[in-house]
Amino acid sequence: MDLLADLIPLRQHCQAWRTQGLSIALVPTMGFLHAGHLSLMDYARTRADRLVVSVFVNPTQFGPNEDLDRYPRDLPRDLELAAAHGVDLVFAPEPQAMYFSDHATWVEVPELAKGLCGASRPVHFRGVCTVVTKLFGLVRPDVAVFGQKDWQQLAILKRMSRDLELGVEVVGRPIFREPDGLAMSSRNVNLTPEEREKAPAIRQGLLVVQAAVRAGERDAAKLALMFRAHLAEKLTSASVDYADFVHPESMSPVVRVEGPTLFAVAVFLGRVRLIDNILLEV
Ligand code: PAF
Repeated sequence: MDLLADLIPLRQHCQAWRTQGLSIALVPTMGFLHAGHLSLMDYARTRADRLVVSVFVNPTQFGPNEDLDRYPRDLPRDLELAAAHGVDLVFAPEPQAMYFSDHATWVEVPELAKGLCGASRPVHFRGVCTVVTKLFGLVRPDVAVFGQKDWQQLAILKRMSRDLELGVEVVGRPIFREPDGLAMSSRNVNLTPEEREKAPAIRQGLLVVQAAVRAGERDAAKLALMFRAHLAEKLTSASVDYADFVHPESMSPVVRVEGPTLFAVAVFLGRVRLIDNILLEV
């Protein structure tokens, strides 16, 4: 497995593969890899001849008061895990390599970024779209694989790739969960033991809503209250950032759950903000 930190060698490496007629899959990550990331790599491995993984904590997708400094990092461990999962090339640049000091170009999909995480993290998706566009331009992958935990990110990147004719198939893969149901996230390591013990209440809250929908409840406002009541009872220290129902592709708000609907939540446990979601089929 190769490790590159500079953009020109990355571009050359991938160009050489394409010249040989080899297809390329890309799994963009911010590192501190967990089983969810590894499942994306295992899937991506089956989709192309060569697999590139990027490990880059992208500063432009963090707002001024967010957790950029606290975001966990462990590149040596990431490299071991990537090598064990058949990755051909890890790209792990420094921010100065990735962005010119006078970087001035941004990619945005504002229509899909208005609600959910976009509402509480105003620069987040602009940073994600810009860095992913840069990665697509450098690697020129045939396929790029992302987790469905960040469902809004996935919907935005699919739309971006389509609208800008980037020629990259953007694929989403299922959420990976701990045995107690907590969605895997690099940020879970920042939970206190007590927060970690109670965090599965988020997933349970999603299941409470799913059960209510299955029992016939359609009113999104009532369903959101059920989720909030569940958390208030089981996870008193949590504060709900949002608990919203949206169309799974357009991300537009849903008032009555009458077709495929995404229920997406973001919850603060202390200083750690966790997201999760469930696709509700009626
Ligand atoms: O989902 C992530 O880890 C990041 O948002 C991504 C897609 C790697 C862009 O920095």
